[in-house]
Amino acid sequence: MSILLACSFDADDWALWRPALEAALPGERFVTQADDGPREAIDVAIVANPPPGSLAGLPRLALIQSLWAGVDRLLDDTSLPAGVPIARMVDPAMNAAMAETALWAVLSLHRGFFRYQALQREARWAPHGQRRADELSVAVLGLGEMGATAARRIAAMGYRVIGWSRNPRAVDGIEVRAGFGALPDVLGAADVVINLLPLTDATRGLFNAARFALMRPRAGFVNLARGAHVVEADLLAALETGRIGHAVLDVFRREPLPHGHAFWAHPHVTVLPHAAAQTDPRSAAEVAAANVRALRIGAALSHLVDRSRGY
Ligand code: NAP
Ligand code: GLV
Repeated sequence: MSILLACSFDADDWALWRPALEAALPGERFVTQADDGPREAIDVAIVANPPPGSLAGLPRLALIQSLWAGVDRLLDDTSLPAGVPIARMVDPAMNAAMAETALWAVLSLHRGFFRYQALQREARWAPHGQRRADELSVAVLGLGEMGATAARRIAAMGYRVIGWSRNPRAVDGIEVRAGFGALPDVLGAADVVINLLPLTDATRGLFNAARFALMRPRAGFVNLARGAHVVEADLLAALETGRIGHAVLDVFRREPLPHGHAFWAHPHVTVLPHAAAQTDPRSAAEVAAANVRALRIGAALSHLVDRSRGY
């Protein structure tokens, strides 16, 4: 049997990933899309944004292991073989990285550090007032691996945290609300709104004019999940009116964010290059390997995606 590496990697990525996967799965045979030869022996595909169609024509495929946490692009591939289990990346190291980014965004918005950065460019010395952490409420939308880790980290800094998920769940120190009926209350209660939802039919375009209008005046908006969660024109309008005071955006409808896009130079937008939580081969290769080993011995697979709900 062999493992197909269907990854849209550049040479630097391959130089990290190939040795990490080979070390985590000694004795396994790896092939790439560039390799010629029969595809009948491929039973596992390890994927990272594979071009559509990459997984078609693999008659013995028994596991699709994503190196990405979000599987929206993968599920968009209409040629994806039906019935083959899809596992996504769940790595505590990645959750920790995401929590760091979320915490940095909250601290920066709370203490006005983005404003001080702008003032420095003008050589202006203008200290502003300071609120306590417990005077701010932070909403974390999506309470899964990333969201729950971020919510706990932010709460540990003294902020009031409200989480939002599809189903009711308990997260220590966090007030949790579930379902679309609760969303207006959650958005209206927060000084900072953080998006850590998966991109699904239910969440695409969630952040539109109507939702921004529910947020507190001058709220901070932090999108660390997917660009298509946001109606960009509506966000720009909300920034214009001051409904949103500042946006921290890691993800965009088009990536890389095109030159000349309004977000690049906007005084109230901080742009990150989809770097909130990168998959780290040092730990993630082992996560993928554990699932391959489970498949080989007929044990239960971990972190399976429910195709019907989209995450
Ligand atoms: P996850 O463990 O699957 O958690 C998803 C959470 O979203 C769950 O709490 C789920 O609710 C909630 N949810 C899903 N649909 C919902 C809906 N319609 N209404 C309310 N809540 C809903 O996912 P994760 O590992 O935390 O990752 C989240 C996303 O982060 C990924 O899908 C990806 O897009 C993004 N991401 C971004 C980066 C980056 O660098 N920017 C890196 C990694 C991941 P339940 O708990 O009720 O199921
Ligand atoms: C990154 O965005 C991921 O989904 O892993």
